[in-house]
Amino acid sequence: MDIVAPAINDYLLAHSEPADEVLRDLAEETHRELAGAAGMQITQDEGELLTMLVRLTGARQAVEVGTFTGYSSICIARGLPDDGQLLCCDVSEDYTAIARRYWERAGVSDRIELRIAPAVETLRSLPAEPYLDFAFVDADKPGYASYVEEIVPRLRPGGLMVLDNMLWSGEVLDPQDDNGRAVAALNEALVADDRLEVVLLPVRDGVSLARKR
Ligand SMILES: C[S@@+](CC[C@H](N)C(=O)[O-])C[C@H]1O[C@@H](n2cnc3c(N)ncnc32)[C@H](O)[C@@H]1O
Repeated sequence: MDIVAPAINDYLLAHSEPADEVLRDLAEETHRELAGAAGMQITQDEGELLTMLVRLTGARQAVEVGTFTGYSSICIARGLPDDGQLLCCDVSEDYTAIARRYWERAGVSDRIELRIAPAVETLRSLPAEPYLDFAFVDADKPGYASYVEEIVPRLRPGGLMVLDNMLWSGEVLDPQDDNGRAVAALNEALVADDRLEVVLLPVRDGVSLARKR
């Protein structure tokens, strides 16, 4: 299911901040080298949305779950101030080797730390107090609920958690598999969570914004 009609999609891409050369090259290399997996990469408009949200929240401490070849991490890191920090969680050395090269090219490697491990382990190892300003979740869908469980107590009041693929190609209306069921159940849980204010946007595959009260 197209969440947004293709013609409208083209129009909004043409009227949003364009990707720069680094992001265009990263997208091109990812599609050339990892054709089967490249669809996991976020897109230009979603990337610009992340940068803007990080800037608008004034975030300094950020975490990302699901880094892949680095597109979203560059967009988040670019929104941070010079002394900001982004902790990236992934399980793949191969995918993130590409990310590391592009972090250098984008000039953001000094503000990014990468931990290769199941993300729930990395999140559980973080300080328990509410110090995070911004979180982006874009990894295995059945894992999302556990990531939310670890992130929300660590978000400061006013902090923002952004979750990708929250419409799961429209399958949330009638989930067909474990991924669809996990996303649909999480949407129910998020909107019922008194700790959060939630808006689910029809950007790409569905982007949820969850602000900690
Ligand atoms: C959809 S991709 C992320 C795309 C990325 N945000 C971007 O902008 O290109 C999902 C990533 O999650 C990682 N992943 C899958 N299961 C994971 C887990 N249990 N812990 C950490 N990372 C995981 C995969 O290796 C993959 O790189």
